[in-house]
Amino acid sequence: MADLQREEGSTLLQAERQGEAYFAESTNPESVKGRFYIESYGCQMNFSDSEIVASILHEANYQSTRKEEEADLILLNTCSIREKAEETIRRRLRQFQTLKAQKPHLQVGILGCMAERLKTRLLEEERLVDLVAGPDAYRDLPRLLGLVDEGEKGINVFLSREETYADISPLRLDANGVTAFISIMRGCDNMCSFCVVPFTRGRERSRDPYTILAEAADLYQRGFREVTLLGQNVDSYAWVHPENTETVHFAGLLERVALIAPDLRVRFSTSHPKDITDEVLHTMAAHPNICRYIHLPVQSGNSEVLERMNRTYDSDWYKERVEAIRRILPECAISSDIITGFCGETEEAHHDTLEMMQFARYSMSYMFAYSERPGTLAARKYKDDVPEETKKRRLNEVIRLQNQLSYAHNQADIGKVFEVLVEGDSKRDSNSFKGRNTQNKMIVFPKLDGFRPGDYVSVRVESATSATLKGVII
Ligand code: SAH
Ligand code: SF4
Ligand code: F3S
Repeated sequence: MADLQREEGSTLLQAERQGEAYFAESTNPESVKGRFYIESYGCQMNFSDSEIVASILHEANYQSTRKEEEADLILLNTCSIREKAEETIRRRLRQFQTLKAQKPHLQVGILGCMAERLKTRLLEEERLVDLVAGPDAYRDLPRLLGLVDEGEKGINVFLSREETYADISPLRLDANGVTAFISIMRGCDNMCSFCVVPFTRGRERSRDPYTILAEAADLYQRGFREVTLLGQNVDSYAWVHPENTETVHFAGLLERVALIAPDLRVRFSTSHPKDITDEVLHTMAAHPNICRYIHLPVQSGNSEVLERMNRTYDSDWYKERVEAIRRILPECAISSDIITGFCGETEEAHHDTLEMMQFARYSMSYMFAYSERPGTLAARKYKDDVPEETKKRRLNEVIRLQNQLSYAHNQADIGKVFEVLVEGDSKRDSNSFKGRNTQNKMIVFPKLDGFRPGDYVSVRVESATSATLKGVII
């Protein structure tokens, strides 16, 4: 796995996370139609969608389970971003075929981006699944399941221009009770040439801000202390009231969420360098509870590569945005996504990426070797001409540099005191808590009587690796 993962696991909108299963308390046992097991892959949007799916299925009297062997229905919420992501899913689907041989009534469904991209293929040609539902078809799941029960094909891959699931209250599966994700928009209109997302998720649409505010306020009431606003490109959030001229842009939304309560932390992901405005940065500066952390994927540090990627900014523009962040939010950490070996990337262009990383001094990055995706602009227009070994070697150079940058970034925190939101027990040591500071850095520290998850504590950092800080409550 190429990703530089944090020791305690990152919760960003990123990085091919490997199938995590969900569980939630069930509805009335007497009316239960069956038990479903859902596993999510890909970005945080998918994990967030699985909570919507669980909510819809619960309403339709399906009960969730975290044990796949107990399930009557297995759902995989899938990712198509790189070829490897799809291979993982196929392997998993073949395992379920073996399970099905022992348990004929078992139904297997595929959701998410791979369902959308491959449409009928997994159902009709490869016969690996019984049900296919794309990202905009989840309301239709109960009907589709009914069709499957009658021996018919359950497939819906229509993409919508309106669906935002605004009225559905996500079932917070496996929640830690402290941090939650809120989807604020769906789809993407950007057409970066390497990217499959516009094809699998459809057109960009923004969710009604009043439903977002209600969801955030409800989470706060239930004890949650951090919300992350999710979208492929949150800076282009724009909602127009259907009955009057009221328009809400991202800065306005951010501010309204921040005003819910001073001790509710607000994060967001992902920001597109072409769209992040000074207005958003000033809104952050005005509200200390909007976290000092921006995920600003650069993809490449070379302007020609950026042009072929159709990112619509060049390296000077990106550097200017980094400078604006430093000017307006001096304490803000910046992270990135980087692709190595994109079509036509020369050694010099690769060095521009390394140079950009040094310029931006990223606190962390998600790093990938380019993987050509069928149907994308790049697949149609450019040759995938960087040899696989070169892509890997460049990726390793990028990873090595990022490790150094993360280490330096973290070492500079030693001796500093941060306000940390306690998220729960450290994975490795039940006598320690883990939590994040405003810069999104995970800090592990020994528990102290009287503190529990959801509390804010002051922690002084005493040591640091490239992935985690360690400290003590003061
Ligand atoms: N909307 C987000 C990114 C979503 S995809 C943004 O614009 O930043 C997450 C990351 O996967 C991308 O930022 C990119 O770095 C990587 N990625 C996307 N398509 C890829 C491909 N074909 N090959 C390798 N990496 C890819
Ligand atoms: Fe893909 Fe670009 Fe949209 Fe991100 S902004 S989802 S990389 S098309
Ligand atoms: Fe996310 Fe993967 Fe789809 S990154 S939007 S789940 S292709």
